[in-house]
Amino acid sequence: MAKRDYLKMTDMTLAEAHRVLRLAARLKEEPKGRRTTLLAGRSIAVVLEKASTRTRVSFEVGIAQLGAHPVVLSTQGSQLARGEPIRDTARVLARYCDAIAFRTSTTARLLEMAEASVPVINALSDDGHPVQVLTDVFTIEEALAASGDRSGIAGRRIAFIGDCASNMGRSWLEAAQLFDFHLVLAGPEGYMPPEDEIARARATGHVTLASDPREGAAGADVVNTDVWASMNHEGEAERRRAAFAGWTVNAGVLEEAAPHAIVLHCLPAHRGEEIDDETLEGPRSRVWDQAENRLHVQKALLLWLLGVELA
Ligand code: CP
Ligand code: NVA
Repeated sequence: MAKRDYLKMTDMTLAEAHRVLRLAARLKEEPKGRRTTLLAGRSIAVVLEKASTRTRVSFEVGIAQLGAHPVVLSTQGSQLARGEPIRDTARVLARYCDAIAFRTSTTARLLEMAEASVPVINALSDDGHPVQVLTDVFTIEEALAASGDRSGIAGRRIAFIGDCASNMGRSWLEAAQLFDFHLVLAGPEGYMPPEDEIARARATGHVTLASDPREGAAGADVVNTDVWASMNHEGEAERRRAAFAGWTVNAGVLEEAAPHAIVLHCLPAHRGEEIDDETLEGPRSRVWDQAENRLHVQKALLLWLLGVELA
């Protein structure tokens, strides 16, 4: 059977995504440290070309909990820093490891790594953060279930407020089409995903654009945001602070959302910029569950990519 990769949300069918999320829920119920033999004898590389806290630790711990050996490699300290081609790195890693999670900049670099003969996971690129948004879908369905509503994310209204051109905004746009919910992308002019990506989602009625944060949040079941200056855009931080003035997710914005609305942020957060402290720490915030869930969802993703079933 051909190897599978997970480079974007749509590398899974809806049925496969539900299967992975169900598996994640079962793994979350397991006491810590059980199921440590599912991937015994395997090794999984986590290659980071950008900074990371959650992704690095959740992959490393998750791989260990599955009984496999995590190999964490950062650009500095590997031959990547000295210009060894990704393609060569991919071929060599595949001789040692059973899968590769890769955090990088361009899609071209990601696709080069995906030439490896083992499954490759996008652990964030400039153009997408699918492991995060898959986790966010899990977190939303978990929050709904906790309030007695097991009907899932389909048909919901999810608002993404801020830099909609970011990897997060773009993965949310893919997620809306896969999971069949309505996404409202709210951000200043010039900070929207590429027009062709919007047009595809618009054609199927999965997205609307808003040019004001309160309008974006109106009636939303979930209000989601992310930093104004993503990694690789830090040099524009000043210009972006000016462009995003007035776009902070705060109590005023949340007033417009549905009464049961929850707040998500993939973290790290810049309190006082894209979200205020009161909202991040407030009763609607699910950001800490969201961060924890990376562990469970990525474990399920690895089992699925490696074709390992839970007994
Ligand atoms: N949310 C997320 O991917 O966090 P890190 O950058 O810390 O990995
Ligand atoms: N959009 C952010 C996400 C960090 C997890 C970035 O790329 O920096």
